[in-house]
Amino acid sequence: MSGHTDQRYSVSEIASVLGFLVVGVVLGVGAYRAGGRLAGTGSVATVSAAPAGITPDGVALYAANCAGCHGPHAQGGVGPGLRAAAAWNSAQFAHAVLNGRAPERTLGTVMPRFATTGMDGQPPTDAQVAALHAFLKTLP
Ligand code: HEC
Repeated sequence: MSGHTDQRYSVSEIASVLGFLVVGVVLGVGAYRAGGRLAGTGSVATVSAAPAGITPDGVALYAANCAGCHGPHAQGGVGPGLRAAAAWNSAQFAHAVLNGRAPERTLGTVMPRFATTGMDGQPPTDAQVAALHAFLKTLP
């Protein structure tokens, strides 16, 4: 979390976000272990789609890759606010982030196709997309 100057979170909001992160780390470590065991069994897709995929830091991923256009609190900027997209299902959300396809339409080309442009030089993993989605769902 950044400093106090431009933030107006209440103590309970901060506490709930921190609580969420702790739960996420605990679940994420479990999923990572489960994923290691299941790798090669054909069950990986099921594991990576689990809510536990929030191991990567969704807050940091968002800040580095999305906030510049969608605003630090996903309130909108160059791109729209992301409250509506936070409520999409995980497949819809992933399709939008990876391929620029919203449920009902193709997004304008200003929105990166992250499967092509990559995040930090690599296409984002399922877990990273899930972490972004999970972060957006925590926003009030
Ligand atoms: C270069 C600016 C830019 C960046 C960076 C960017 N977006 Fe976008 N995004 C847009 C624009 C512009 C739109 C609207 C496109 C349209 O409506 O046709 C959009 C649309 C979207 C939508 C669809 C929203 C809706 O309600 O239709 C989602 C979801 C989304 N972006 C998620 C993300 C995420 C997650 C990231 C970071 C991983 C990200 N975007 C990074 C510019 C950006």
